[in-house]
Amino acid sequence: MTKPKVFIARKLSEEVVNQFKESLDITMWEDTDEPVDRNRLLEEAERSDGLVTMLTDQVDQELMDRGKRLKIIANMAVGYDNVDVETATEYGIQITNTPDVLTETTADLTFALMMATARRLIEANEVIKDGKWKNWSPLFLAGTDIHHKTIGIVGMGRIGEAVARRAKGFGMDILYHNRSRKEEAERELGASYNSFETLIQTADYIVCLAPLTEETKGIFNAEAFKKMKNSAIFINASRGPLVDENALYQALIKGELKAAGLDVFDKEPIDENHPLLELDQVVCLPHIGSASVETRKAMMELSLKNVKDVLYGQQAKTPVNRPN
Ligand code: DGY
Repeated sequence: MTKPKVFIARKLSEEVVNQFKESLDITMWEDTDEPVDRNRLLEEAERSDGLVTMLTDQVDQELMDRGKRLKIIANMAVGYDNVDVETATEYGIQITNTPDVLTETTADLTFALMMATARRLIEANEVIKDGKWKNWSPLFLAGTDIHHKTIGIVGMGRIGEAVARRAKGFGMDILYHNRSRKEEAERELGASYNSFETLIQTADYIVCLAPLTEETKGIFNAEAFKKMKNSAIFINASRGPLVDENALYQALIKGELKAAGLDVFDKEPIDENHPLLELDQVVCLPHIGSASVETRKAMMELSLKNVKDVLYGQQAKTPVNRPN
């Protein structure tokens, strides 16, 4: 029996990929650092039964029109705003993502980013490395406390709840805003549901973890930043387009907001001359929320398992749609 053909749109760990070679005929994009070239992706889509794509790939109608044999596209991320799920469903293509395996790792990074921003860790590290640590002084690099403050989580999915558990350990008051109520989190973590409006006005830390959709695009705009406390710290570990970056920059330079920690940007990679990068009170990371070796390998494995299962007539473990 010929093995189903699969294209992986980024160079993944051989150790993980090799486990699937017995059942799948795998071709992998060769370059470790660069996303797959669009033309190559389209050509591979044409001859493949399954694809493993990254958040940097546009999985759109053009690709699905070319991919007449495609039965599954496994997006190696929990977010799938790069995928036209509606068209996939219509074309009978299974879309999968990688929830659960990255929850705790992404929550660790989100909390670390919040702490690094509040306690000015990056600035402090630079002071030492630049030879500028001359003496101890009472308010030298003094930051903002985290413990016993109020955190407001916008987007209380699995990662939001994992951040809330960490916040509970720090004695924080937990507010959240979400499409649906999370009664278990309310009971177990003492989290309280708030309107978006109340949350942004009340929280000391506003943490964005909502997925990117038509409804959430640009929700953190000039009006929202104006409503936050001047002492508030804004964290985004979800997707860049939820934030109006120019409005965020203006709010920071006007002192309407104290600081920001950003793991994601409107355009990635962010331009090195972007004004946000000039501000000491902004900590920027290159979209590394789920980037631990263990978790990235688990994401690779889950994506390939989904591909194998679907191509061998089984249910995907983490489906996003129900194809027609
Ligand atoms: C995701 O999975 O959506 C993250 O943003 C990538 O790590």
